[in-house]
Amino acid sequence: MIHPAPDGDIVLRTAAPVLQRGTTVLLDSCEAFGRKSPTYGRSGLATQAELRRSLCTLEQGEVAELYPSGLAALSGAILAVCRAGDEILICDTIYGPTRRFAESTMADYGVTTRYFPADIALDELEGLIGPSTRLIVLESPGSLTLDMMDIPALAALARSRGVLTLVDNTYAAGVLFKPLDHGIDISVQALTKYVCGHSDVFMGCAVARGEVGEMLKRSSRSVGWAVSSDDAYLALRGLRTLHARLARHGESALEVATWLAAQPQVSEVLCPALPGSRGHEVFKRDYLGGNGLVTIVLDAPESAATAFLDALRIFGLGFSWGGFESLAIPCNDQLRQRRFAPALEQPVIRLHVGLENTADLIAELRTALTARAEARI
Ligand SMILES: Cc1ncc(COP(=O)(O)O)c(C=O)c1O
Repeated sequence: MIHPAPDGDIVLRTAAPVLQRGTTVLLDSCEAFGRKSPTYGRSGLATQAELRRSLCTLEQGEVAELYPSGLAALSGAILAVCRAGDEILICDTIYGPTRRFAESTMADYGVTTRYFPADIALDELEGLIGPSTRLIVLESPGSLTLDMMDIPALAALARSRGVLTLVDNTYAAGVLFKPLDHGIDISVQALTKYVCGHSDVFMGCAVARGEVGEMLKRSSRSVGWAVSSDDAYLALRGLRTLHARLARHGESALEVATWLAAQPQVSEVLCPALPGSRGHEVFKRDYLGGNGLVTIVLDAPESAATAFLDALRIFGLGFSWGGFESLAIPCNDQLRQRRFAPALEQPVIRLHVGLENTADLIAELRTALTARAEARI
């Protein structure tokens, strides 16, 4: 077996982040076994430490915990702050698997869940808060239908009642909106989407300040969440182009949404970045811009979704978003899982507008809308 040189080689500074792999941390002396600073690689080495620091800057937090997927970040953060006997209030437009986690694992641990609609009035939400309400979970714009919520007002209400708040901030990627600056306690992101940005890494983060940050840290250490150095490297690489990619996704999506809104086969475009669309006023007040997501309601029976989706070529058919590529999914079945499901006679289709040429994307959508119209006849 070959042992490394005792002092290693001098590490030169590079423009790219440091990729440090390792499980065992070699200590200088026996006395170091008792020290508090990292003595084992699970809590992260240089690469994860740089990623945590960068995410604290991005989300304006003091503690950033890393998890092996976005869903793990959501479940990890909820587990960190809730105890048996607590209640969680969840907005109905939350990412579906968060709902499944609350209804299964959290229910098994004695935590109950109630849902409220995204357009709930403040006084109605206040009426739902009871002595056991511990946490309010929000997502704005919400999953699939991109409903806007007044996050600053909701955060102020929760704080006045001593209830913690968590926002799934994946839409904004930490760039377009900073929940902690608006009074939210925990901002969670699926880094899998825009931060990693190339559809090849699963990762999530939860960012917080003060005592809530310490709770996230303690829970992560106790549960043993860890992400690989290689994946942390890819997330750091993604961060270097995040702002530029996101700006391009936002511009392209707006162009596509504007075109879609003018098509007779489209009855509604759900895209809060689009002037005149639902939620635009709150969006304009709170967000720096939109991302690549645009959802459309077709003026057709629900069955027409198949012809539309099967006519797509550049848009891949697949779950997820936030990567470089355009994607499309049918939403009706997922929307039926909601407690306050919208009327669903027409196809609801979510598009993710990627970094491709928008003229090509619009030409393809024109063909798909025609295919949808022909299928109807
Ligand atoms: C809003 C939102 N949050 C969280 C997640 C979960 O991320 P991951 O796939 O990394 O678990 C997703 C995934 O689609 C999402 O859309």
